[in-house]
This record gives sequence, structure tokens and C-alpha cells, in this order.
Amino acid sequence: MHADNWAHKAKLMGYRSRAVFKLEEILIKSKPNKITTILDLGSAPGGWSQFIINRYPKSQVFAIDTLDMDFIKGIKFFKESIENIYDIEDIVRLKGKFDLVISDIAPNLTGISAIDCENIFGLNNLTIKVAINFLETNGTFIMKTFQNSNLKSLRKDMELSFNLVQTYKPAASKKKSGEIYLYGVK
Ligand SMILES: C[S@@+](CC[C@H](N)C(=O)[O-])C[C@H]1O[C@@H](n2cnc3c(N)ncnc32)[C@H](O)[C@@H]1O
Repeated sequence: MHADNWAHKAKLMGYRSRAVFKLEEILIKSKPNKITTILDLGSAPGGWSQFIINRYPKSQVFAIDTLDMDFIKGIKFFKESIENIYDIEDIVRLKGKFDLVISDIAPNLTGISAIDCENIFGLNNLTIKVAINFLETNGTFIMKTFQNSNLKSLRKDMELSFNLVQTYKPAASKKKSGEIYLYGVK
């Protein structure tokens, strides 16, 4: 399906972004053990959070983004960078208890590929550390990254702390875009 059609479908279904279909596909393929306590990193405008709370209405969802995110019933949102996640008491008290950590974080692009690659790599490394610290054993981690020279290194890094590390390129992800998702079970 063309990217515009995914966007149209998302709008019809009341979702804030077409990114929901990427998450849906990854969840179908990866079959997480449990989805009850979720951390959504880089959550704005809120498509993934909407999807999770619609599908798993009894779950506890914590979302964080540097940008504002309009209210979603059932979502506890914090306008903060993941660099400061350890300052958010409501999230810190659940350290080691999350069963799903999802990250669609993407930094602002400068257009200078070397700088963009390093910024993405830095954020991805930080995100992996957050997932390791906040997930329970057997918890599932899904993270967006990009197909560049750092991908192998990120994957190797994940393999040190996660079992069953895999990459997914969902159908709803634009073919031309270099984005790809890493998945692991702690
Ligand atoms: C592609 S969007 C996420 C879309 C979202 N999954 C959805 O379905 O609506 C990427 C988000 O990452 C956020 N972001 C970038 N750097 C961040 C950081 N250091 N901490 C938290 N969020 C960050 C951006 O502000 C942006 O909203």
C-alpha cells in the first residue's frame, strides 16, 4: 500500500499517525509475552500510545517525548527527553517492571548525514540502556533505528543483553526511508 493510503487509513480509524500500522505489524510478528505495563519513548503525536491503549485497555501506559502530546485517556504523558527519564518519579518507581518498551524516537535531522547518523546512534544507545534498566526479565523491546553503518554495532550491543534480537522492516514503513526496527526479548 502507498504511504498516503496508510495515512488515510490511520485518519479514518482516528489514529494520529500512520506509524500505528508499523507497530501493529511488529507486534503481530513478535508476539510479546505480556502487554500490561508499557513505556512509549518518543511518543508524540501519540499514534502508538493510542494503539496500545485501544488494544490493551487494562494496561498502564507511560509516554515520553520532548514535544507536547495532546491528551489521550489512559496515557500518562511526560514532556521530557529520555536523557532525563531518571528524574520522572512515576516511571522510575516501575524500573524493572515494564513488560514492553517501544521506541519510535527520531531526532531532528540536520541534513548532514554524518551528524545525523551520530545523533541517531547516540539516542539509540541511550534507548537500549533505558530498555535494559526498565524492562522486566522476558520483557520485549522494540526500537526504531536506521539502516546505516551503525546498525550492525547496535544489533551486537543489543545481543549482549537481549535474547532473540531481530530486525523488521514493516510494510507500512516507506520503502525509500532507511528506517528499520530492532526487536529483542530481555
Ligand atoms: C516518529 S515520531 C514518533 C511517532 C509516534 N510513535 C506516533 O505513533 O505518533 C518521533 C518522536 O521522537 C521524539 N524525540 C526525539 N528525540 C527525543 C528525545 N531525546 N527524547 C524523547 N523524545 C524524543 C520526537 O520529538 C518525535 O515526536
